[in-house]
Amino acid sequence: MDICREDERRTLLSSYDDTIGAGPSRSIFYDDATTKRDDQTRGAHHKPNLLELLRTIGLDNDYHRAQGDRIYYFDELGREIEVLDLVSGYGTLLFGHNHPDLTNEAIRFLASASCNHAQGSASSLADSLAAELSRRAEGDFCVTFGNSGAEAVEAAMKHALLETGGQTFMTLDGAFHGKTLGALQLTSSPIFRQPFGVRGVQVERVSVNNVRNLEAAFAHVHRPAGFFFEPIQGEGGIRQVRREFLRRIAELCAEHRIPLIADECQTGLGRTGTYLASHALGVRPDYIIVSKALGGGIAKISAVLIDRLRYRAEFDVLHSSTFANDGFSCAIGLKTLKMLDDETLESCREKGAWLKRRLQALKKKYPAAITNVRGMGLMLGVELRKSALPDSFVLRFLAARDLLGLFVAGYLLNVHQIRVAPTLSDSTTLRIQPSVLIQYESMHRIVAALEDLCVRLQRRDIVGLTAFLLQGDARPGRGAPIWPSRKRTVTFRPSRQPTAAAAFSLRRVAWLFHLNDADDLPSLEPSLQDLDQANRKRFLDSIAPFAMPVAMDRVEIRSGTGDRVQLQPLLLPVTSRWLKFHFERRRFRKLRTLVQQGIDVAFGLGCEFVSLGQFTSIVTRHGRNVSPQGMSITSGNSFSAALAVNAVQSVLAGHGLVSTDCTLAIVGATGDIGRVCAEILAPEFRKLILIGSGRQNSARRLKHIARRIGADWSCDLMAVRAANIVICATNAVDLPLTEVHLANAAIVCDVSMPATLDRSTIRQRSDLSVLRGSVVRLPFNEELGIPGLPLPPGYAYGCLAEGILLALEGFPDMSFVGRSSVCKVNRMESIARRHGFLPADRTTPLPVVRMMQDCNHVSSDLRRFA
Ligand SMILES: Cc1ncc(COP(=O)(O)O)c(C=O)c1O
Repeated sequence: MDICREDERRTLLSSYDDTIGAGPSRSIFYDDATTKRDDQTRGAHHKPNLLELLRTIGLDNDYHRAQGDRIYYFDELGREIEVLDLVSGYGTLLFGHNHPDLTNEAIRFLASASCNHAQGSASSLADSLAAELSRRAEGDFCVTFGNSGAEAVEAAMKHALLETGGQTFMTLDGAFHGKTLGALQLTSSPIFRQPFGVRGVQVERVSVNNVRNLEAAFAHVHRPAGFFFEPIQGEGGIRQVRREFLRRIAELCAEHRIPLIADECQTGLGRTGTYLASHALGVRPDYIIVSKALGGGIAKISAVLIDRLRYRAEFDVLHSSTFANDGFSCAIGLKTLKMLDDETLESCREKGAWLKRRLQALKKKYPAAITNVRGMGLMLGVELRKSALPDSFVLRFLAARDLLGLFVAGYLLNVHQIRVAPTLSDSTTLRIQPSVLIQYESMHRIVAALEDLCVRLQRRDIVGLTAFLLQGDARPGRGAPIWPSRKRTVTFRPSRQPTAAAAFSLRRVAWLFHLNDADDLPSLEPSLQDLDQANRKRFLDSIAPFAMPVAMDRVEIRSGTGDRVQLQPLLLPVTSRWLKFHFERRRFRKLRTLVQQGIDVAFGLGCEFVSLGQFTSIVTRHGRNVSPQGMSITSGNSFSAALAVNAVQSVLAGHGLVSTDCTLAIVGATGDIGRVCAEILAPEFRKLILIGSGRQNSARRLKHIARRIGADWSCDLMAVRAANIVICATNAVDLPLTEVHLANAAIVCDVSMPATLDRSTIRQRSDLSVLRGSVVRLPFNEELGIPGLPLPPGYAYGCLAEGILLALEGFPDMSFVGRSSVCKVNRMESIARRHGFLPADRTTPLPVVRMMQDCNHVSSDLRRFA
């Protein structure tokens, strides 16, 4: 049967429609009441975290209808959207979705009231299918059925243990044999395996296509029980095992009298253009596992074929499974095998070869986008180049988070209505596994879509590539998906590496920081400059659930004493707003985990000191709630407070004011920096007013502090009007202080990040003096070059500098974790003095804010002041 001929297919389809009475545009089984759920409850009970991830990347369509290579969903406007499906049920749908012959067979079986389950009796259907499988595998095999690929792998493992009395299975690096506990031991990817690292069977892994490694493994393996291989590693990235290598495996298995076990769950039954890929590659396995295509996309069935000469009689009883060899699955399996004729195999070969040639041409034309095209027949893989765009923060971030393949899948689905998916263990390889029904016209469409993708990658068109993320409903504040991560670090740009000698001798200090707001995005990804503010925010919200620390360029910092340390900035690509949102909802564990990841990365990068800052300090109770991994952690607050106090004192002197004549207001006085500033400055001022946010507990705490130090307190910002000096040390993200709150000619020292005072206030009120309160001048004016950091060369924030100073001191010091104190502030100040770190306002007659207007690094925070 030429199932690819469109007219014939149509005839089949119409007869199918007649049979079951369904119109072509809607499945009869689609029931609005049961399948359409409101968005609030959707996905709450079934893999909610995975659904969140899919939703973020625009892959969460609920497909209601499928036919051949096409699947359909309704968009938000209720339109039915057709999608070309190249995922094909992970390789299951060799004959496409709902092939009429297979569906009719299913209907025929069910309508005939055949016996589906009669365990413990003879089954002519199971027997016929087993005989046919044995015949097609060109041998004499005993067949054990199962329900899934992994179950058949388990059965093969059990039989091999029984047969050989061995205890070690041999397999290949990159292998994927399923996720049940036994099969998982054979699966290579540590992402899937390590969380379940129980001691079971032993596994010896061999490098693919490395004969020397193979022979060495056989030489030392202890009591081998069998060698599992996939002729083409599917989930490992569609990687073919070489013929000569396979032959050598077969020879060594024979020498050691262990079975050669071909896992053809994915490669078998025609997908690669031959009935079995192992036969095409010149080996005759002792056990053969098949699944996926055998069920015709309808039944859940797998089988392990075991050479009769090896088969152990007791296995018949020792292994069983309630639903295996049911009549229904066997009937579908038989029908599938019947449809799998020479013409089908030839079609797989021809179409696969055509598509592979076109994809290889794309690879040649766009080497910066595609590194490799692999596979046989209709089992093809396109490997994306991970390091294609060294300048693109977004793409490198996604690649390092193992999300590049999924992101590209989101792009192809939302922009081109083509469904692909990355392979499970190699997230940058896209599986292209259409059904044999695929038309050449559709294959042209695939090539055109991939070409568009390549052009955008090559052109660094991040806006075009990410536009689909912004169209959807970006949902900040939902639970972050738990996505297996190798905890790899993203390095933003090749570091300005120090000399090798310096790298070893210098102490390294990490600064764990985050973005102030969405306006910082273009400093990371300049091509997103043109996005408006709302879209910048949407974009950052959409990647926030996958946030992981990003290592920026390292910089060497020198002390006035001549000592040097290396600063390793680590960015958490989330905004203050995002962190505050979760903080206020008490999602402490989630936030702590994120900061802890940064600490773990710092440790992995050889840091001995870690400075927190802004929300990384707040959400960890100033470093108390994270595990330091043996490093010294600082909250960054003591030196920030020291600088703020210093700034106030010198600005008073600069204005010829005497503090005992002045009223000071501290906005954010219940925060760590605000409180300690209040404790230090209370005795110096005529009057001190502590201002709190008025949130839960704030008033109580404020009252307590005020009583202790003899200050006034208020939760009303208007109270600030009574002060001629104001320190802002809030964690607010919405610029709470405006011109109405400030007295005439007030001096404002803004320590907050993001700033508490907004740009328009500063513009409108020329009478105000506004300065950044926690900026320090580095003795040797090093340029930190940190994207998003609104400071000119030679300047650093106090929180950042605190870790540097401790590292320069040179001995482990955990005393700057937790709440700051007057004593800690004084100590920090004297350490800073010793190393020549001066408050910024002492080094320049201008308030720092004004000076920073001229610098190229001005970003959101500073633009407010400009
Ligand atoms: C080669 C191979 N073996 C085993 C399996 C596991 O099959 P299942 O998911 O049906 O358990 C897979 C699934 O992709 C596979 O590709």
